[in-house]
Amino acid sequence: MVHDLQHRMLAKPDAEEASRQRYVLAMKRYLTGRIRPGNALIYEQEVEPAFTSGHAGRSPDERAELREALLANPHYQTWCSLNRSSQEMMWQAVGETVMRESERMRTEAAALCEARETLGGLRLDPAFEPPEVLQRVNIHLQPGGYARTLDEHDVLAGAFYESGGNLYSMGRGMGGRDSKAGAVIAWLAREHPTFRPRRVLDMGCSAGASSVPYAQAYPDAEVHALDIGAAMLRYAHARAEALGARVFFHQLDCAATDFPDGFFDLVVSHNLFHEISDETRRGMLAESWRLLAPGGVCLHQDVAIQNATRTLFEQVERSWDVEFNNEPFWECYADADIVAEMRAAGFPQDSARQLALPKISGPGHWYAVFGQKPA
Ligand SMILES: C[S@@+](CC[C@H](N)C(=O)[O-])C[C@H]1O[C@@H](n2cnc3c(N)ncnc32)[C@H](O)[C@@H]1O
Repeated sequence: MVHDLQHRMLAKPDAEEASRQRYVLAMKRYLTGRIRPGNALIYEQEVEPAFTSGHAGRSPDERAELREALLANPHYQTWCSLNRSSQEMMWQAVGETVMRESERMRTEAAALCEARETLGGLRLDPAFEPPEVLQRVNIHLQPGGYARTLDEHDVLAGAFYESGGNLYSMGRGMGGRDSKAGAVIAWLAREHPTFRPRRVLDMGCSAGASSVPYAQAYPDAEVHALDIGAAMLRYAHARAEALGARVFFHQLDCAATDFPDGFFDLVVSHNLFHEISDETRRGMLAESWRLLAPGGVCLHQDVAIQNATRTLFEQVERSWDVEFNNEPFWECYADADIVAEMRAAGFPQDSARQLALPKISGPGHWYAVFGQKPA
């Protein structure tokens, strides 16, 4: 897609594939911009009045009954079906390119990662068992999922993630200054202008699109990134090398790393919260606290879908992904009081807080939590 960051590892669509990808993008934009707003209208005008008249004048007061009523409506059924199809079509369109390019990408990755002098590094652990749920569930329908690794040169999970992510972000791409990492870096520059981390950790890095911007923003820092899948990390490492960025990738669980206490000045994550369980998130926050050096900062960013600020209808409509897009943890993230969990993990009462981070590319803001270890 036109706005994507170009590099040697990226799967490059031919003219026909690019045209099919543009079609899927147009369809997704149409569904989001023109069809989805109808969901709120049909709820107000049809679904809620019908429910109320059948329930002695009361509106739905639980998500489950509101969801059941909504799912019985033909307009909502059409939206669900088209939206699901657009997601399947996205992976199909991206998959054509990724599979056609797979041999070239394997060769590129081997050349980039096995060069005599790489900038960063890759630490894989053959004994590492990815979380069982990620071996079983292909999150947001990504073919093969995050964890799949076919052999010791496999890079497909990362290639799917980056190409799918570029399309999924509606053509805004994952970019050099990926909007999520860019938003955190811009906030830190504004609010903590003298802060210069010596070591940075990016948790749940996927293809490394959120990790590379830290190496570019803090050229003197040592940037580390972790994820659970070997093929994902191999791609991320090769991609960072192709972009000339020095990042050290590790196959580790965010809730149980093997770095020493106080090793990092900055611990971040991007869009990880909504893809981990309550237990893993609490473990990750405890790990963030343990890994920070005195004066160190953690900033975890994700989509702004907090249920505390939403109507019951919005909560249900936004949790579409749980049922139809293989996002089992979307709702538990939206329900969580993460600031309270940070305080329970050790962050002082007055340092842990939530932020609305302005996006770099596009309107709106990201949700984030911030915490600092006393100097
Ligand atoms: C939505 S992606 C994150 C995207 C990436 N940070 C970015 O901004 O491009 C979530 C990632 O978290 C990883 N993940 C899920 N559970 C994890 C865990 N327990 N430990 C480490 N990584 C995990 C997944 O494998 C996946 O690559």
